[in-house]
Amino acid sequence: MMQGRGFPTRSSSFRPENLGQNALAIIGNLFFTFFVIAVLVFTVIAATYEPEDPLFHPSTKMTNFLTSTSNATFVSDSTLAKTGEDFMVANETVFGSVINATDVGGTILSENTEGEVEKKGERDCSGEVDKAVDCTDPEVFHLMMSAAIDRFKDIHFYRFGKPVRGYNDSSCHMAWRFRPKEGKRASLYKDYRSFVIARSANCTLSVVSIGDYHSGGKARKRRPHQKAGFEKTPMAEDDKNVAVQVVGEVVNDTLPVVESERSFDQGRYLLYQGGGDRCKSMDHYLWSFMCALGEAQYLNRTLVMDLSICLSSVYTKSGLDEEGKDFRFYFDFEHLKESASVLDQGQFWSDWNKWHQKDGLSISLVDDFRVTPMKMAGVKDTLIMRKFGSVEPDNYWYRVCEGEAESVIQRPWHLIWKSRRLMDIVSAIAARMNWDFDSVHVVRGEKARNLEQWPNLAADTSPEALLSSLQDKVDDGRNLYIATDETDISFFDPLKDKYSTHFLDEYNSLWDETSEWYSEMKNLNNGAAVEFDGYMRASVDTEVFLRGKKQIETFNDLTRDCKNGINTCSS
Ligand SMILES: *[C@@H]1O[C@H](CO)[C@@H](O)[C@H](O)[C@H]1NC(C)=O
Ligand SMILES: *[C@@H]1O[C@H](CO)[C@@H](O)[C@H](O)[C@H]1NC(C)=O
Ligand SMILES: *[C@@H]1O[C@H](CO)[C@@H](O)[C@H](O)[C@H]1NC(C)=O
Ligand SMILES: *[C@@H]1O[C@H](CO)[C@@H](O)[C@H](O)[C@H]1NC(C)=O
Ligand SMILES: *[C@@H]1O[C@H](CO)[C@@H](O)[C@H](O)[C@H]1NC(C)=O
Ligand SMILES: *[C@@H]1O[C@H](CO)[C@@H](O)[C@H](O)[C@H]1NC(C)=O
Ligand SMILES: *[C@@H]1O[C@H](CO)[C@@H](O)[C@H](O)[C@H]1NC(C)=O
Repeated sequence: MMQGRGFPTRSSSFRPENLGQNALAIIGNLFFTFFVIAVLVFTVIAATYEPEDPLFHPSTKMTNFLTSTSNATFVSDSTLAKTGEDFMVANETVFGSVINATDVGGTILSENTEGEVEKKGERDCSGEVDKAVDCTDPEVFHLMMSAAIDRFKDIHFYRFGKPVRGYNDSSCHMAWRFRPKEGKRASLYKDYRSFVIARSANCTLSVVSIGDYHSGGKARKRRPHQKAGFEKTPMAEDDKNVAVQVVGEVVNDTLPVVESERSFDQGRYLLYQGGGDRCKSMDHYLWSFMCALGEAQYLNRTLVMDLSICLSSVYTKSGLDEEGKDFRFYFDFEHLKESASVLDQGQFWSDWNKWHQKDGLSISLVDDFRVTPMKMAGVKDTLIMRKFGSVEPDNYWYRVCEGEAESVIQRPWHLIWKSRRLMDIVSAIAARMNWDFDSVHVVRGEKARNLEQWPNLAADTSPEALLSSLQDKVDDGRNLYIATDETDISFFDPLKDKYSTHFLDEYNSLWDETSEWYSEMKNLNNGAAVEFDGYMRASVDTEVFLRGKKQIETFNDLTRDCKNGINTCSS
């Protein structure tokens, strides 16, 4: 799997045969071998990682985070939905040890190659200056690692992939995994960059320049083929293995397929049909979807899901609900399909139609949410189909998980992460500010215009008020990322004298027609272009905000007004 370069995957890192391969590939440099093994050992990502509460508490404790009222009906709200990784607390031990300059330059190089370096200094390499750089040379590897560690001071490195030849004789591409030094989030990031290496007449090598974020495309490696989620035995053990998201890895979120008629026959399925959840807020969508997934897990069944999503008008530019969105635009379907048993509806029905008569597949139809999951536990039919009517709120999926079921069905939040493609945009933005920025969230929009509910907001978020509020909090000259719903960015011009301000729209090359995001999304969407919609914008804006070193929120930090209107402040 490893082929001696790139990152070993989580599942393959510690197979003895991989270590063997590695060792073979670099035989002849004992210390280097030690180093590689040491790095491998250091960088285990603990697979058994229990996120903190409140994730696994009954829904009563979830209410705050979902802005729902105590009886689990939703306040329609345009806030972003929280997902599993939001509740994971970074614990350094999960990521392994940080690789620092001492590890790559200091001990290893100086102890072992000191003599050699000196000899090289005396040698004459004037004839070799233009020769191609051998990117697989351990010395080049060390040099590149040291250069990266030296250059990027605000991140911690956890693993380096071995360099590969870049696009010409003097360039090498290398990948690494990192986290921001001050990051609280439990995610890892992958970067791969191009390094220009120069040789000099006295035989020394040096790094001339390091390219931008993700400039080293040749060091980006596809993850080895993964078994389809469907093949996995449903649930149980896998659920507890909460790994971490690696932003920047190649995404493979193709729809799972059923390998054979036989495995289709043997499967047991759960499908939710209809209901009033469509086009509701993302919170509502997830709260309901989590209930369905929780029930499927409880029943040891594959969840047959509809990947097509209707985006609520609260997030759209048009101000209308928009059909034709895809689960994969917003969430990490690869993680979901690898850690749970799910199938796409279209795929399911086509298999069903092919085989159901011949194989005598049966359906159990349930059209009342008051029939609890516990009552369905003994059902042997191939498919359990829950039908939801047209009368709200009794036709909300999440009602299945209320009452008696609430203490039995656990919503598997750890299966839902944000789209890695969106998070990659977040990471690219942070990288352009070298992960060294402070951030402020400035809510204006409708709320600032509504003086009845938010009497001070407009004044408290004026440029003058901002300058005075930020004065003691953010040092002059800092990079300041302003996450805001204010459409007129020039509004913030007065802050430019004091800070280096940044806004989401500066980075639109990350999602415009020339971007990787755009082409990948188009691909995913059967060739039709995908708009970078209001939900995505707000998601990226918020996530960049959350990566600031100092984060200043509107409510509490800038104004005494309450987030949800007058007299709604808790505590
Ligand atoms: C849910 O709460 C709302 C207001 O908070 C109330 O009007 C409604 O009767 C409650 N429903 C139930 C089933 O308790
Ligand atoms: C991190 O996890 C380890 C082992 O799981 C635990 O011993 C340690 O106390 C944790 N550290 C923090 C800061 O939570
Ligand atoms: C590198 O890490 C080692 C321990 O792993 C530590 O002793 C050393 O001080 C670190 N060096 C730097 C430059 O941070
Ligand atoms: C080799 O040459 C480079 C510049 O060409 C110089 O910076 C470096 O110090 C020299 N190294 C030795 C060992 O002489
Ligand atoms: C090789 O490529 C790098 C960037 O990829 C570029 O900066 C450098 O000038 C190129 N060198 C030559 C000799 O073309
Ligand atoms: C993506 O994953 C599926 C299994 O889920 C696999 O069959 C397929 O070959 C993978 N595609 C690529 C390009 O790796
Ligand atoms: C699901 O599988 C687990 C483990 O195999 C078993 O303990 C449990 O009773 C099953 N649940 C149902 C509802 O069949």
